[in-house]
Amino acid sequence: MPLLLSFAIEIAAEAGAVLMEHFEGDLEIATKSSPVDLVTTADKAAEALIVARIRARYPEHGILAEEGGNHAEGRMRWIVDPLDGTTNFAHAIPHFCVSIALWDEEGGRVGVVHDPVRGETFFARRGGGAFLESPRGPHRRLALRTGDDLGEALVATGFSYRRATDGAAGLREFTGLVPQLRGIRRAGSAALDLAYVAAGRLDGYWERHLSPWDTAAGAVLVQEAGGIVRRIDGGAWLPSEPSVVAANPRLLPRLVDALAAAGDPGR
Ligand code: IPD
Ligand code: CA
Ligand code: CA
Repeated sequence: MPLLLSFAIEIAAEAGAVLMEHFEGDLEIATKSSPVDLVTTADKAAEALIVARIRARYPEHGILAEEGGNHAEGRMRWIVDPLDGTTNFAHAIPHFCVSIALWDEEGGRVGVVHDPVRGETFFARRGGGAFLESPRGPHRRLALRTGDDLGEALVATGFSYRRATDGAAGLREFTGLVPQLRGIRRAGSAALDLAYVAAGRLDGYWERHLSPWDTAAGAVLVQEAGGIVRRIDGGAWLPSEPSVVAANPRLLPRLVDALAAAGDPGR
């Protein structure tokens, strides 16, 4: 396995072990951008470990990490969410992950999403396909579900931390899509939502007001599993884009159209 990918998998697993040490324990919980945007001792401890490991091994690389562990720009940049699913974590709900991506001038080079509760690691590198390592079986190559019928699609979404002041579009989309889909899930981890799209567990995913660390690794997984990642309006996606929609190439345009129609009641 290429070094950068195996390194990313290794540090994601180490950070996952740190999260499990804190899970269901006494947590210090603080708020950030809004009263519902939480950070805990576990987010900070896992990020400190990841940043220290990257800086020791690749001091020339840049780091963009959610809890502020940023490090100078480099040609290669790690994009890190040490704990995606903090609200679940703070409520002792066992659905969260570590998300680590490596970006270069050509785009996503490596993506790793590690779920320490289930022991599942989703990983991909550019041009090399996406895979799942799980305690339940041998490595499995990931591929999206292939259907293009919204009525048979199970799709995930989320409601942003800005929903109290800026959530109207997301809610219109939600109410517009509920009757059209087989089902909607709001499980509380954007990175796992994208990994589940890559793994064919979900048919699609959309959300607004995201940050690069929520989506970068999951987007590499989806793309390497044969899927498409776009902005909600169908435009080209980059980690800096706050909205995302992901699905297979035939379902994606239908999802984008349905979201546009739901978001604009006059259409
Ligand atoms: C959040 C989760 C959640 C999504 C939020 C994200 P965090 O990340 O991914 O599912 O709805 O928009 O900010 O705060 O748990 O790292
Ligand atoms: Ca996140
Ligand atoms: Ca986080």
